[in-house]
Amino acid sequence: MTDRYEQLVAIAQALVAPGKGLLAIDESSGTIKKRFDSVQVENTEANRLDYRSMMLSAPGLGEHISGAILFDETIRQKMADGSSLVQVMERAGILPGIKVDAGARPLAGFAGEKVTEGLDGLRERLAEYVELGAKFAKWRAVISIGEDIPSRACIDANAHALARYAALCQEAGIVPIVEPEVLMDGAHDLDTSFDVTEATLKALFAQLYDQNVMLEGTLLKPSMVISGSEADERAEVEEVAEATVDCLLNAVPAATAGVVFLSGGQGDVEATAHLDAMNKMGDMPWPMSFSYGRALQAECLAAWAADPQGNRENAQQILLHRARMNGLAALGEWSEEEEG
Ligand code: 13P
Repeated sequence: MTDRYEQLVAIAQALVAPGKGLLAIDESSGTIKKRFDSVQVENTEANRLDYRSMMLSAPGLGEHISGAILFDETIRQKMADGSSLVQVMERAGILPGIKVDAGARPLAGFAGEKVTEGLDGLRERLAEYVELGAKFAKWRAVISIGEDIPSRACIDANAHALARYAALCQEAGIVPIVEPEVLMDGAHDLDTSFDVTEATLKALFAQLYDQNVMLEGTLLKPSMVISGSEADERAEVEEVAEATVDCLLNAVPAATAGVVFLSGGQGDVEATAHLDAMNKMGDMPWPMSFSYGRALQAECLAAWAADPQGNRENAQQILLHRARMNGLAALGEWSEEEEG
C-alpha cells in the first residue's frame, strides 16, 4: 500500500469518526448573500469573516465536528489577530475542506436540468488548496425531479464530472466528497425520490469505478430519500430512514469510507431525527453521519444576525447544541428529550 493510499484512508476515516460529522460553510458568494438577506445582514467580506470565524471558534466545536467545508474566500481569510481561519481550525482539531466546483449551470439541450462545472484547471487549483491546508474537497451535482426529468444524459454528465473531480483530488492527496444532490423541490412522492436517487448513485459509482477512484478514500454526500417539499402527504421519519438505507444498500459499495448526508432544506430537528433513525437500524457497511449546511446553521445565523457582537456566545452555544445533537444522531443515540 502506498503512502498516498494510507493518507487518503486516514483522512476519510477521521472525517467519519464515531459521533462526528461535517459543518458545511462553503456557501458561494451568491448563496451566502441569500442567507444574509434572509436575516438582514449586509453581504460584505468583513461580515462573512465575522460570521464564519464566530462558528469556527466556538469552544469545543471539534468534539462533534471533524471537518468544515470552506469557500475559496474563506480558506484565505485571516482574523484581526493575524491567524488564518485554517489555523483556528487546526487548533480546534477540525480538518479544513474546500468546495472546488464552480456551480451548476444549465445543461445544453436539456431544459430545466443542470450540470456542474469546474474541471478546467482543477489540478492546479487543488495543488494550491493543498498548500493552503485543505485535506478534503467537495463537488456538488444537482439532479432535479420533474415532468420527464431527470434525463439519463443529465445523470451521466454529472456522474462523469464527479468521477473526474474525485480522481484529480486523490492524485493531489485530497479526499473527495462526491455530492449528487437529488433536490427535494417538487410534489413527487417517496418512491420517485427512491428511484431517482438509486439511478443517480448507480451511475456515479459506475463512473468512480471506471475512473479508478479509490472508494476507501472517498466520502459520499447524498440527499436522503424523502418526499418532495410540496407533496400532499410527506413520508414519516421511519419511512424516510428505511427508504434511504434500502436505497444506499442497493447502490453504495461497502468499500466506500462513509456517507455524510446533506440537509437539503429539511428542518434542523427533522434532519437530526432522520439521521438518528437510520443509525438506529443497526450496523451498516459504512458509517452514516452528517455534512449539514442549513440544518446546522439556521438558528445560529439568526441569533448572530440579531446582534453580531452581543449575541456571539449565544450563537456559538446554539451551533454547539446542534452539532452535539447531530453527533448523537450519528451514533443512533439521539432522542427528542436531548433537545431540551
Ligand atoms: P445543506 O445541508 O444546507 O443542504 O448544505 C449542504 C451542502 O453543502 C450543500 O452543498
